[in-house]
Amino acid sequence: MFTPTVGILPARRAIADYLNRDIPYKLCPDDVYLTIGSKQGIEIVTAVLSRPGANILLPPPGFPYYELWCAYNNLEMRHYDLLPEKGWEVDLDAVETLANANTVAMVIINPGNPCGNVFSYEHLNKVAETARKLGILIISDEAYDSIAFGSTRCEYSGQRRLFSPWGLYQRDGLFPVGA
Ligand SMILES: Cc1ncc(COP(=O)(O)O)c(C=O)c1O
Repeated sequence: MFTPTVGILPARRAIADYLNRDIPYKLCPDDVYLTIGSKQGIEIVTAVLSRPGANILLPPPGFPYYELWCAYNNLEMRHYDLLPEKGWEVDLDAVETLANANTVAMVIINPGNPCGNVFSYEHLNKVAETARKLGILIISDEAYDSIAFGSTRCEYSGQRRLFSPWGLYQRDGLFPVGA
C-alpha cells in the first residue's frame, strides 16, 4: 500500500492551515502538493513549466539548484539583476527587458540566499504588478521564512513581522510555490 504522491491528507491540511494564518483567502488541502524538501519542489516545477522554447527568469546570485534543473529540463535561463544598493531588490526594469512571450515564470528567493535580504511588502507589490503585466508566474522560494528577524507591520494581518509571504499577492492566476 502506497501513500498518495501529493502527500497524506492530514499533512496537507496542516500545511494549508499554517499558510492560511497570513493570507487574505483560504487554501484547502487540495491546494497543497507536498514534496521531499524544497529541492524536489524545484525539480517538479521546472519540469512542469518546461516546453520547447520556454524561458524562465532567475536571480543571480541565487540557489544553483534552479540552474541545474532548468538545464536538465531544457528550460532556457535568463538572469535578472538584484540591486545591492537597494538592499538586493529585484531590478524590475531588467525583468521587463528580459521577458518575452516565451517567459513562463520568474523565481524570487525571499528571504534571499545568499544575500540575506528580506523583500518589503511594497517591493513585493511591485514584483506582483510586473508579473501580472508580463503574464508570468512567480515561483516564490520561501525556504528561510522563519529565520527572518526584525519586524514591520504586515499590511494584511496587522502582525509585526519582517517577512511577507508571496501568498499575500495571489491575484489574476498568479500562485505561490512556497519552497
Ligand atoms: C534558497 C533555497 N531554496 C531551497 C533550498 C533547499 O532546501 P531543502 O533542503 O528543503 O531541499 C535551499 C537550501 O540550501 C536554499 O538555499
